[in-house]
Amino acid sequence: MAKKLWGGRFDKETDPLVEKFTRSIQFDSKLALYDVIGSIIHVKILAKTSNLTKVEADTLIKALNTIYKEIREGKLAFDVNCEDIHTNIQNELEKRLNDGNLVLKLHMARSRNDQVVFATKLYCKKMIEILCKHDIEEFISSLDSLLAQNKDVIMPGYTHMQHAQPVLLGDYLGTYKLMLLRDKERFIYIADNLKITMGAGALAGTPISYKEYSEAAENVFKEFEELSQAWKLSPTENSLDSVSDRDFIIEIVSALSIVAMHLSRLSEDLIIWSTKEFDFIEIDEAFCTGSSLMPQKKNPDVLELVRGYAGRLNGNLISVLTMMKGLPLTYNRDMQLDKEPLFNSFEIVSLELKVLAGLIKTLKFNKPKIEECLKDESLYATDLVYYLVDKKVPFKQAHTIIGELIKYSISSGKKIKDMSGVKLKEFSEFLNKEDIIKLFDPKKSVESKLSIKR
Ligand code: ARG
Repeated sequence: MAKKLWGGRFDKETDPLVEKFTRSIQFDSKLALYDVIGSIIHVKILAKTSNLTKVEADTLIKALNTIYKEIREGKLAFDVNCEDIHTNIQNELEKRLNDGNLVLKLHMARSRNDQVVFATKLYCKKMIEILCKHDIEEFISSLDSLLAQNKDVIMPGYTHMQHAQPVLLGDYLGTYKLMLLRDKERFIYIADNLKITMGAGALAGTPISYKEYSEAAENVFKEFEELSQAWKLSPTENSLDSVSDRDFIIEIVSALSIVAMHLSRLSEDLIIWSTKEFDFIEIDEAFCTGSSLMPQKKNPDVLELVRGYAGRLNGNLISVLTMMKGLPLTYNRDMQLDKEPLFNSFEIVSLELKVLAGLIKTLKFNKPKIEECLKDESLYATDLVYYLVDKKVPFKQAHTIIGELIKYSISSGKKIKDMSGVKLKEFSEFLNKEDIIKLFDPKKSVESKLSIKR
């Protein structure tokens, strides 16, 4: 049984099942590095406020730095019998120091309730940085290269999954780029507003003054390579709020769900386009899987999993929201359960962005098939309406005229283009065959839409 951070008031040993049930080391070891950073900063504050001598502080920092290095190099084996990562680091420290008393001084003015928020916030800042600077960027650059190759391709646009009007493939793919750019902005906003604090203690604050925390907080992150120089540590404004706030987790998991929803919509589009019926795209074999029974199959499993994971992400969001909704102030152990959904959402979205970046980069469009679909006359019905409006026919009336023309085309099985000039005049005296024949042109149709910034 690993040593605990508490126990003085207990006579009995903890039931082994309770140990198993309450521990979080199996997932919160992800916070190890940030917990050690917190400990180093805390030691410095204790030394500055004469709670530790310089020699004591130096000894603790030296040992903490070794642990820090080992974690970075993936060399520290976590003790799975510990209650959590905070206990684990404290026990590691004790093992490495000859002075058993010294490690006990580290917990002066400190509580895991504060530690856990500090470490989780740093983890979030770091993960958001990676997501924005690498994963989203990589995804967008793949999309950009696909966009550049197919910029001028025109395709049928859909509403309700029915042929609507011709659109540029560049605009279609550009829509997903805009979604991801918005996601990035959202993350930057959340990260900028994430206040990293210290000094809440368990809930009521500590005997170290606000001023002392403020002074100690200055430039405190600069010696740690994985932390950005722009990040700041602040003293707590309200210690009760510091230990009970999980809004940042809900915001981040929600923002991650939005990314997952965007990626799921893209996946759905690509799945549909890859069907034999559509046949708009060819997904590279490296990004497909086969069937154990049907030899012909080349399945878009990657895309299906992205679509499926969007549900998992939503579940993660609901689980944190539900966990928080009934909690009285301040810290309650329920809050330990915020981490798995948070970590899981980050990991899934990061992996999805990477795998989709690869899939998109190798995607091929079947341009002849797309062109074939553009022959459907119904795609130009709105352009015919605009033509009549140009001839001063009121819009609603023009809409009805072209509606009737389409109805006749369907029931007679005759293409509008093949109808005689006389027949067309039966629908409207303004329908001139020579003019309207030119309107069944995807390029013309797209170019006639002037409201879009090009
Ligand atoms: N592992 C715990 C968590 O993640 C640490 C906090 C325990 N605090 C306490 N007062 N029991 O929430």
